[in-house]
Amino acid sequence: MDGNGRWAERHGKSRIEGHRRGVENVRKIVDAARELGIPYITLFAFSVENWQRPKTEVSALMTLLNTYLKKELQSLVKNDVRLNVLGRVEELPAKVRETLSQTIDKTKSHKSHVLSLALNYGARTELVDAVKTYAAQITSGRVDPGKLDWKTLSKYLYTRDIPDPDLIIRTSGEHRLSNFLLLQGAYAEIYFSPLCWPEFHPLHFIEAINDFQQRERRYGQTGEQLKTAKKSLQRT
Ligand code: IPE
Ligand code: MG
Repeated sequence: MDGNGRWAERHGKSRIEGHRRGVENVRKIVDAARELGIPYITLFAFSVENWQRPKTEVSALMTLLNTYLKKELQSLVKNDVRLNVLGRVEELPAKVRETLSQTIDKTKSHKSHVLSLALNYGARTELVDAVKTYAAQITSGRVDPGKLDWKTLSKYLYTRDIPDPDLIIRTSGEHRLSNFLLLQGAYAEIYFSPLCWPEFHPLHFIEAINDFQQRERRYGQTGEQLKTAKKSLQRT
């Protein structure tokens, strides 16, 4: 969700107003995703690098996050959505941690949809945390590192409970991933929108999904191999 600040600047508003509009848009896109029957949606809301921003902006973002979570609870409950968090949650302000854990707890039995918020998230930090936990298990003799494979290692990532993303959308015209789900997104289709996040309407979201549906996902195979596999599946 990039471009809140630039959107605000263009409209003669403060960056914080841009973030407020960004949050309003989160509601619209999350609702649209649910109505489209998308079971998992992950939002990159705050990166490990975002702490470097001015203190006033960081604290405004934390307050917005806290308010968003409190306001959203009712809708999460009503729509059977489970809240999930990816990132170093323990470094977030106490008030936010408290609201997060209450929301996670109150939605933990929900099965229809999972809304994941990447908060204080960075893919490299995630890998470091995974390796540290795994290394501790080697030291205590509970795992055999010789048997390590991707399936096992992926269980140590913050995303252990959710599948890899099929589609990653980045708004605001930047063409990079900025440390977001680098390993999980290995085979993700990537869609770049020139629009800033507050102006990225659900109709633009549908456009991104339509674009995704036109793509051929080969996972290292040839197009020919895929066609053959598809034909044999159609026969069964
Ligand atoms: C995205 O908008 C929101 C967060 C990172 C929290 P930005 O704040 O990055 O907006 P720009 O990039 O300055 O326009
Ligand atoms: Mg930005």
